[in-house]
Amino acid sequence: MTANSKYETQEHDVLIIGAGGAGLRAAIEALAQGAKVAVVCKSLLGKAHTVMAEGGLAAAMANLDKADDWRTHFRDTMRGGKLVNNWRMAQLHAQEAPDRVRELEQWGALFDRTESGDILQRAFGGHTFRRLCHVGDRTGLEMIRTLQDRGVQMGFDVFMECTITKLLKDGDRVSGAFGYWRESGRFVTFKAKSIVIATGGIGKSWKITSNSWECTGDGMALAYEAGAELLDMEFVQFHPTGMVWPPGVQGILVTEAVRGEGGLLRNKNGERFMEKYDPKKMELSTRDVVARSIYTEVKEGRGTPHGGAYLDISHKPAEYVKRKLPSMYHQFKELADVDITKGPMEVGPTCHYMMGGIRVDAETGQSSVKGLFAAGEAAGGLHGANRLGGNSLSDLIVFGRRAGLAAAEHAKKTAAPSLDNAQIDEAERQVLAPFDRAEGENPYTIHHDLQDMMQRLVGIFRTDADLRQALVELEKLRERAKKMRVEGSRLFNPGWHLSRDLQCMLTVSEACTHAALARKESRGAHSRLDFPKSEDVWGQKNHVIVKKGDAMTLFEVPRTAMPAELAQIMAEDK
Ligand code: FUM
Repeated sequence: MTANSKYETQEHDVLIIGAGGAGLRAAIEALAQGAKVAVVCKSLLGKAHTVMAEGGLAAAMANLDKADDWRTHFRDTMRGGKLVNNWRMAQLHAQEAPDRVRELEQWGALFDRTESGDILQRAFGGHTFRRLCHVGDRTGLEMIRTLQDRGVQMGFDVFMECTITKLLKDGDRVSGAFGYWRESGRFVTFKAKSIVIATGGIGKSWKITSNSWECTGDGMALAYEAGAELLDMEFVQFHPTGMVWPPGVQGILVTEAVRGEGGLLRNKNGERFMEKYDPKKMELSTRDVVARSIYTEVKEGRGTPHGGAYLDISHKPAEYVKRKLPSMYHQFKELADVDITKGPMEVGPTCHYMMGGIRVDAETGQSSVKGLFAAGEAAGGLHGANRLGGNSLSDLIVFGRRAGLAAAEHAKKTAAPSLDNAQIDEAERQVLAPFDRAEGENPYTIHHDLQDMMQRLVGIFRTDADLRQALVELEKLRERAKKMRVEGSRLFNPGWHLSRDLQCMLTVSEACTHAALARKESRGAHSRLDFPKSEDVWGQKNHVIVKKGDAMTLFEVPRTAMPAELAQIMAEDK
């Protein structure tokens, strides 16, 4: 225990919160700069949600399609994002992704190969060329295995099954974090000169989601509470293909690689309905378009028995399907008793990814709070209004590296911060409050109602009335959460864990709803039934949310013009 904290205190130059692809890549880079690095994660090392990104990582390697280059990848990403992306991030991402992939390969990642031994690449929606480097349909898993081996060899300190509940500050800069061990419930403080948030997304605010239990918006909420800005929170991606049946597995991802490998979408009448919505790109249209198309087919009565669409790859040889999509084969066989080599899957949209997030500097991942960095899904900007499949895994390694580098450099120039016991006392009080109440609702019912409400009112299609109603409901849920009660002790107590995660979900859900209400147009994944078109004037601005006093405040920021070189790339059409 150090002098200025009440609890066990771990001291490092760089503290990384989150052990997915972005967190691990940041840790590796910070270590390479000589920093002392801690990685804290809610789950076990190696179990990050990154493993659920299945189909591949996008990088213009041009291994199959020789005409591919970073310019085309940049243009595809900007177009997919409906031009409200941070163009500098999109440029860096497209330029650096191939080197980051080669690096992964040098560190031991075993990619699928072409006959001549190059990394094999597959097609995905919105990408002009076959661009997704992959390992069957287990790419995220291989990426985490590789990064984890590398980081452990290099020597980061790992703190598993630990939930961070508050960022601590020393004046206007971060000084560390407060949290608890999930198993024992004991408290811990981390002291650090730099912090990198790499906690992933917010999918658990919705009822039907591909996201795992960790994805409760922790990092965005922690950063917001510490004074950082959130960007473009209205842009939430619904992946077109999640499982719809049986109910217990609803939402689990059915990788876009099924369509990338030739899978066809049909409605209950056997029609390839994408002909109506995007006859050129068909099943490989962007995710926002395919998700809306499936939703519309179901709403208009052409859905499957369980309310989805059919996705069929059984016209391909069984051996091919099992080799290219081994996880999908087992997933459907074991969870739904469906053999995908013989018949179609039933699929429907599932909340998958948050394009918005902590507002960061493109080069460094620095947020608006000194010493606080963010990377991966927790950071906003790269993907604009809609992310292309495969751009998330490449995002993690490009911007994870950049944030780790900048965090280590910041730590070198910075004196050790002090921890403030008053902030620690307050953090402790907040997290223990649900134990102190003699009566009150349990967090599960509030979470259930939050998910149900977000699914109904802040889903694929939105309206002014629904979004206003959502804000009213969120206020009521907040009031209920203020009075919630958990029973039992602090020893591994899932109800207590949820009581704290719920606070984060309420914050990010409110940010998302405010931003969705404010954007009076449809763009990418944000579809307003009352404003069905994209408007030029909205394409000129982004939304920023920040905490002022206790209030969530939203303002618009004008977009900066692209440099001529990038504008020229956008104008070209290969
Ligand atoms: O469909 C998928 O395999 C998901 C990949 C992604 O979200 O990038």
